[in-house]
Amino acid sequence: MKILVLGSGGREHAIAWALARSPRTEALFVAPGNGGTQQVRLASGGNAQNVKLDPMNADEVVSFAKDNGVELVVIGAEAPLVAGVADALREQGLKVYGPNAAEAELEGSKDFAKRFMDANQIPTAEYQTFTDEAAALDYARRQGAPIVIKADGLAAGKGVVVAETLEDAEEAIRDCFNGAFGDAGQKVVIEECMRGPECSMLSFVTGGKSFPMAPSQDHKRAYDGDMGPNTGGMGVYSPVPIVTDDEMARMEEIMAQAAAAVPDYRGTLYGGFMLTKDGPKIVEFNVRFGDPETQVVLPRLESDLVDVMEAVADGKGDDIQMKWSDKWAVCVVLASEGYPGDYEKGRVILGVDDAEAMDGITVFHAGTALNADGELVTAGGRVLNVVAVADTFQEARDLAYEACNAIQFEGKQLRRDIGLKALIGRSSWE
Ligand code: AMP
Ligand code: GLY
Repeated sequence: MKILVLGSGGREHAIAWALARSPRTEALFVAPGNGGTQQVRLASGGNAQNVKLDPMNADEVVSFAKDNGVELVVIGAEAPLVAGVADALREQGLKVYGPNAAEAELEGSKDFAKRFMDANQIPTAEYQTFTDEAAALDYARRQGAPIVIKADGLAAGKGVVVAETLEDAEEAIRDCFNGAFGDAGQKVVIEECMRGPECSMLSFVTGGKSFPMAPSQDHKRAYDGDMGPNTGGMGVYSPVPIVTDDEMARMEEIMAQAAAAVPDYRGTLYGGFMLTKDGPKIVEFNVRFGDPETQVVLPRLESDLVDVMEAVADGKGDDIQMKWSDKWAVCVVLASEGYPGDYEKGRVILGVDDAEAMDGITVFHAGTALNADGELVTAGGRVLNVVAVADTFQEARDLAYEACNAIQFEGKQLRRDIGLKALIGRSSWE
């Protein structure tokens, strides 16, 4: 099969890497890809290729796919899904992994997602939506802190403020209405602040059914001890040792309820859960694989990802068979100094080969590129994802950090405590 993956992050590198392991993958294109995606080796021989295409431009994607005999298009990120790129490709007769725009609203609008949850008895935080600053401020003052302020639309994971004080809440509301998130912030969702560990459950959804993947746990805050601003994710592991069997079953049930309510959905539905004292509740839905969750989930999938994605894209849920490894995967993100704020680009990266030579280590690239001299350089906020797979959680964690030490670039920023709370146990969230 000839496959085109749209995107350029660590997630897309991990998807390409997993697809490349299938003997069925005959050609693999990643558009636009990054410094790592073109190094992906296919089990059938040869390498993946980066292609200069804009994932937001459906016409460009269609003509490339048709000219190159592409049989499956995998859409990595939310923006093209929300913009209707999947719809446009399907209209042209292409096979697509990823939902249409109507279902992508589950991520594209937090207000839409909240109304969807209400209508389908899916547990989530209490909320209200505002299009008027004064009314929003008034509501926040009446509710009091802690309280959560969310820009309604897409803001690359940065449009959410968990305000511990009323002053912070007021500032966040003003920022939204002052255009800090563009149009995304002209509608604001204000939510009850939930407490508890978070857990991501990605699920293959097709034909109104949910086929859950292994659970994972992200670290959203920028700095150690869960301090600092929210980011796209600084590290992650799978499975999640602190989740009880009851919670797992409940999360699977909630994903099944959600899937049943979107019968036309064909792609990954990502349930971002908080494990509250009243049971798992949805923090958010995403309509695509998580980044960096994918980097620890797919390396543990022993089944052929091409088979699974094809079954999802065809709406043939009955064909989905999944087998998971019982190993542990830990991923530490190496970011550019300053992320999620401003950062420099173009810093030379050394040691990736040394890290990858370690048994059990895979390095997925995110913000990397090759400069004019052919050197690997930083090109984004999140630069590399160092993934260790080992027999125990502790071993995987130690190995991941050993590999992180082997990689050097000026301004390398990482969290040193990925997985630490989980290693201590559930009590570390009390
Ligand atoms: P979101 O973009 O909706 O996933 O929010 C980003 C992060 O903000 C989540 O992963 C949580 O850590 C936090 N968050 C969002 N909503 C809430 C909430 N209602 N209560 C507590 N934390 C939240
Ligand atoms: N890691 C969080 C996300 O992909 O949204």
